[in-house]
Amino acid sequence: MDPLAVPDESLAALDRVAAEAQSYLAELTGAPVRSATSDVAAERFGGALPDEGVGTMEAIEELLRDGIEAHVRSGGPRFFHWVIGGSTPAALAADWVTSLLDQNAGGWDATPLGTRLEKVSIDWLRELFGLPEHWSGVLTTGATTANFTALAAARQWWGEQHGADVSEEGLAGLPQAPILSSGFIHVSARKALAMLGLGRGRLIDCSGADGSFDLRRLEQALDGRPAIVIANAGEVNAGHFDPIREVAEIARANNAWVHVDGAFGLFARISPRVAQLADGVELADSVISDGHKWLNVPYDCGFAFVRDPAYLGATFTAAAAYLPEPEDERPIFGFMGPELSRRARSLAVWATLRAYGRDGYRAIVERCLDNAAHLARLVEEANDAELLLPAPLNIVFFRYRPPDASEDELDDLNLRIEQDILRDGRVYLGTTRWNGVLGFRPAFVNWRSTKEDAELVLETVRDLGQRLRLRSRPQDVRA
Ligand SMILES: Cc1ncc(COP(=O)(O)O)c(C=O)c1O
Repeated sequence: MDPLAVPDESLAALDRVAAEAQSYLAELTGAPVRSATSDVAAERFGGALPDEGVGTMEAIEELLRDGIEAHVRSGGPRFFHWVIGGSTPAALAADWVTSLLDQNAGGWDATPLGTRLEKVSIDWLRELFGLPEHWSGVLTTGATTANFTALAAARQWWGEQHGADVSEEGLAGLPQAPILSSGFIHVSARKALAMLGLGRGRLIDCSGADGSFDLRRLEQALDGRPAIVIANAGEVNAGHFDPIREVAEIARANNAWVHVDGAFGLFARISPRVAQLADGVELADSVISDGHKWLNVPYDCGFAFVRDPAYLGATFTAAAAYLPEPEDERPIFGFMGPELSRRARSLAVWATLRAYGRDGYRAIVERCLDNAAHLARLVEEANDAELLLPAPLNIVFFRYRPPDASEDELDDLNLRIEQDILRDGRVYLGTTRWNGVLGFRPAFVNWRSTKEDAELVLETVRDLGQRLRLRSRPQDVRA
């Protein structure tokens, strides 16, 4: 069916989606995070590519019917798995505008709107995080690509120290680049090293007993030869921080590029209550964070900031006769990151910052801090749960531990609770293994989550844990 050969149903389809959004948003807080029939609903999609399509309205109807049943309400307030934010009202509406206007945010001529709003967004984010005024940045698809983008700049700088332009000449003939980090490094930074030809297996581990940087080891490993140091603001299992200021001072004194992964931890700088955790980021050469986590804009969005944008341009410029040249006030963001054609993510970033401002974001961050602290306190007070590490930010690493359970059965018990949680629907969270111990790691980044939602985490874990133990008891007796 040629869409031009039939009446244009764009408006009818958008009306249908807007009507669905009414009930969807009204139920977002109370509905199960995941429907019990989500797997079956997802598998209803399929079949052969239709020769003749079903038409706009029927396709959208199918998408809404089976799609809503098959999806996970990860944008809702009781989703605590991984570190996944929701969408503020302004960000959601602006994201719809993004699709309506369908801009290619590669450069000014393709979209003055997208380019200007990206520049303003980067400036505002820089201010929000208290980064130096002269730094530049670019929006990316997320923190993985932001790590890739910033580490590409680091690689360019490192090559330059050896008299080489690695974007032109490649890495052949150069020594192995020393890349140092702690046990807090995120897999996405390792993936970025793999993509950049720097080798994820080449990482030099400078961690101490708790996984964070051992500063003496770092000092010993750096010998004044150019190196790249990756510090971590917000470790993904329990939300802990490397001592960023000290790491940056040692690294800078030893001729190293300092990169900070602050996918969610950079947001600590918004609240005076926890800003100290991310102190020293301003000494780095590059830092990244995510939009689809604590900024609460829709997928996908991240940001990479660099002290000197020339290192981004060296790698990512893709000059061609048919493309324009960048100007100071009219940067070509397509020349500052991996994508040339790009979604105009800036519309949602700009709209949410414009709508809620610095105070709104401080309120969101501090509510998440309060929720995490509240849950951590409840866990500490409970006689059937154990806080496995302090919760300095927004992740609470804990396990269910009834008084009469033996250490040997705890991993299996908590894993089985996790399986039940993912089916149960009241809350959504998962386990991790950190420092050799298995526990849950609910993360608080959603703007909607309340104290009661935080309480429901422990209540649900306890309820499902008790049921599991009751079910297994008769077998114990028989055994
Ligand atoms: C510390 C850290 N860095 C990087 C990432 C990767 O982010 P994304 O999934 O947005 O690419 C994450 C994701 O959880 C993270 O926690």
